[in-house]
Amino acid sequence: MAAKGKDLNDLFLDTLKDIYYAEKQIMKALPKMAKAANSPKLRAAFEKHLAETEGQVERLEQVFELLDKPARGKTCDAIMGILDEGKEIMDEYKGTEALDAGLLAAAQAVEHYEISRYGTLKTWAGMLGMKDAVKLIDQTLQQEKNTDVSLTKLAETEVNYEAAA
Ligand SMILES: [Fe+2]
Ligand SMILES: [Fe+2]
Repeated sequence: MAAKGKDLNDLFLDTLKDIYYAEKQIMKALPKMAKAANSPKLRAAFEKHLAETEGQVERLEQVFELLDKPARGKTCDAIMGILDEGKEIMDEYKGTEALDAGLLAAAQAVEHYEISRYGTLKTWAGMLGMKDAVKLIDQTLQQEKNTDVSLTKLAETEVNYEAAA
């Protein structure tokens, strides 16, 4: 038998704190990535997503409010690792034709992490009967998915070719 005492409510709150921490780190990283990007389209994509991310943080704060809990982050090692890899690309590929392709790929790793987290949170919120939270989380989930699709298009139509040229 597993130890008793923790349930889906705890998992939901812990995961909410994880993604809240992650979004705040992403908010710090995106301006640096935008500044580093050579392609104006890639820079614009990062800037657009930075604005969306600010709204996502606010939505998370609304979910904390629904739970009657203070909005608090919990260190997320996964996002730190993913963002560190992005920093490595910026350092190691600075001034090269391949920089944008590397930056874009790093950004997609971030999106995929977020899609995983928000997908789980949406399902759990549904199971916990939190309809308003499901709506809020789904809005963000759709933004993350759209961002991922836009980045794929940009990679396939432009950025990867510059790296290969
Ligand atoms: Fe996000
Ligand atoms: Fe995102």
